[in-house]
Amino acid sequence: MARLRTVYICSACEAEHPKWNGQCATCGAWNTLVEDVVGSDTTVVSKTVAVSRSLNTASAPLPIMDVANVAVAATPTGIGELDRVLDGGLVPGSVTLVSGEPGIGKSTLLLQLVGAWKGTSLYVSAEESAQQVRLRAERIGTSGDHTYLVSAMSLGDIVGAIDKVKPSLVVVDSVQTIADESVESAPGSVTQVRECSFRLVQEAKARNVAVVLVGHVTKDGNIAGPRLLEHVVDTVVSFEGDRLHPLRMVRAIKHRFGTTNELGLFEMTDAGLVGVPDASNMLLADRQLGVAGSVVVPTIDGQRPLLVEVQALTTKLATGVTPRRSAQGVESSRLAMLLAVLERRARIPFASLEVYASVVGGVRLNDPGSDLAVCLALASAALDKPVHADLVALGEVGLGGEIRHVTHLERRVMEAERMGFRQVLIPENSKAPDLRRATLLRASTLGEALSLAL
Ligand code: TYD
Ligand code: MG
Repeated sequence: MARLRTVYICSACEAEHPKWNGQCATCGAWNTLVEDVVGSDTTVVSKTVAVSRSLNTASAPLPIMDVANVAVAATPTGIGELDRVLDGGLVPGSVTLVSGEPGIGKSTLLLQLVGAWKGTSLYVSAEESAQQVRLRAERIGTSGDHTYLVSAMSLGDIVGAIDKVKPSLVVVDSVQTIADESVESAPGSVTQVRECSFRLVQEAKARNVAVVLVGHVTKDGNIAGPRLLEHVVDTVVSFEGDRLHPLRMVRAIKHRFGTTNELGLFEMTDAGLVGVPDASNMLLADRQLGVAGSVVVPTIDGQRPLLVEVQALTTKLATGVTPRRSAQGVESSRLAMLLAVLERRARIPFASLEVYASVVGGVRLNDPGSDLAVCLALASAALDKPVHADLVALGEVGLGGEIRHVTHLERRVMEAERMGFRQVLIPENSKAPDLRRATLLRASTLGEALSLAL
């Protein structure tokens, strides 16, 4: 029997270290070393795999225009919002990692995927019994003669099932719960996840099967498995959302066969995930008009415009108490900066106010173009004056209180008009978008924007 030993593997660069350290000596990343137990010959095995792979794929250098131009044809998955993210569908022989927090809906989506798939598909559950998966499949309407299901945890059994069923699509749920028996390491450990995924990548390529792996990540995206896997697989799809809200966002963060800037939107319902073609409508459905602290912003995610409501609430505190700042969907450092700019450049005092800012529907605003809307919501709440109900605001806010231009202005404004907004507040120096019915308002400073919107 192979001797077991403890090693520390960097989840960023996969370098192996004999001792734990705060920083990886190979790549310099902090807090990335994870403990792992390996058999004495494991690393040799994985190195051999890596070397033989690189030898097999090596080819003589050619002038770039002489390299054969082979088009990769993706097979549509049958789920529109997923095909949008994958730029057409799944490529045979490719490996896709679907990563997300536990409970977000990965198993649900992939069970729907095997059901919608036109060819033979195999769903491998290493987390639930076949009966449990069958029950869920019934609830979400997954059926079909060409959809196979197996509950297996060992890599040998999984490969055996692929041999038997000969599917064109295999889903393995999840990569952290399967194990290769020849590797003496627990399921979910770095070594096991790495070995199993290498093996599945080889199977996918050899059989020309599309393989989808499920990988759990924690809130900070820090579990070793999926991060390690990102280098190994062809495509990484992240599945995000707030579990307390029905909206789910799917995006490709790496894609060897297409673009990565498409966003897919789903709603989690009792009957599984349903594509949301009109998210703005869904997000604004419960909006209350005429309330102070509410502002709508046409944000953009990938290529997709999305109208979201930013809300702010302030309450007065007795002097001497440190006021709370709470942000949901807005980065707290961004909120702090915008509050400071409002205080210094627009003379709105927040020092004795508790501030709550939130984006409706569990959406996260990573778009600097939504700064102005956040500022207007904060000012509107502090002054207890509603912003015009049919106004949308766009602009990045600088430290000097200046309003800066935003990307994709035309597309954002079109979405606002489509949803019935009639006043569009944009940065002074932006090129005028093509408006049909709405009025254009322009501001170069936060002060000007406030006087136009409130
Ligand atoms: P699941 O797909 O099991 O998440 P993951 O595989 O990412 O861990 O989905 C978990 C949640 O989704 C669960 O809390 C219940 C909810 N859900 C629905 O709301 N409707 C459904 O039809 C299904 C199958 C699940
Ligand atoms: Mg699951």
